[in-house]
Amino acid sequence: MSYARIAHRGAAGTRPELTPAAFTRALELGVDMIELDVQLTGDGALVVLHDRLLGRTVAGSGPVRERTLAELQALDAGTWFAARWVSERVPSLDQVLALTSGRAALNVEIKSPPQDWPATAAALVSLLEQRGRLAETIISCFDMGALAAVRERAPAARLGVLWHSADLAPMFARAAALGAAAVHPLWSLVDAAVVVEARRRGLRLNVWTVNQPDAIAALAQLGVDGIISDFPERLLPA
Ligand code: G3P
Ligand code: MG
Repeated sequence: MSYARIAHRGAAGTRPELTPAAFTRALELGVDMIELDVQLTGDGALVVLHDRLLGRTVAGSGPVRERTLAELQALDAGTWFAARWVSERVPSLDQVLALTSGRAALNVEIKSPPQDWPATAAALVSLLEQRGRLAETIISCFDMGALAAVRERAPAARLGVLWHSADLAPMFARAAALGAAAVHPLWSLVDAAVVVEARRRGLRLNVWTVNQPDAIAALAQLGVDGIISDFPERLLPA
């Protein structure tokens, strides 16, 4: 019944996603891990942002990859959620590493477009090594190419294969090919047989994004290893 409590985009259900406020809230709730999305800025920094285009959660428009970190950090990342979050800014991955150090592990999901995969992988591995966080971090992605680029640079990296299609066989095949540590399927695709197969292969099974209490309880009962939720307060403490 015990599973890792993983906050999705920080505590995205109650705070503007992927902002310091969201990460601080997840830490207050005592989560084991925080899932966040990263991509590369025009000046080669790793920034914590879900969408490749500005406009939904961060003021402005156009591709993130064409902006510098300083330009991105000047933009309002909180007002879309509620006026009181007007001061929230987009953090760099390094800032989130500092905030969470010794308090929660990270699940870093790569959102960079294909042309940025090699540089993203290089920057990510180097930053995690520099901060002593490579061993505790799960690096996940829906794209095999991005994970392969990480694996090339870091034989010890813990990779997580993200998946949302009904047929789970290719997810397990990718995990085997990459020497992944975990599989991260959409929660509704998981049943007892999937749990058994992940165990048989020695893979951790972390599911996303589970917000309904009855679904959380059912997945915990099935024996998944981690549950990723926008509402980490709904996940049972160990
Ligand atoms: O990593 C799990 C989940 O975050 C994948 O989808 O779109 O929320 O990044 P998305
Ligand atoms: Mg994500």
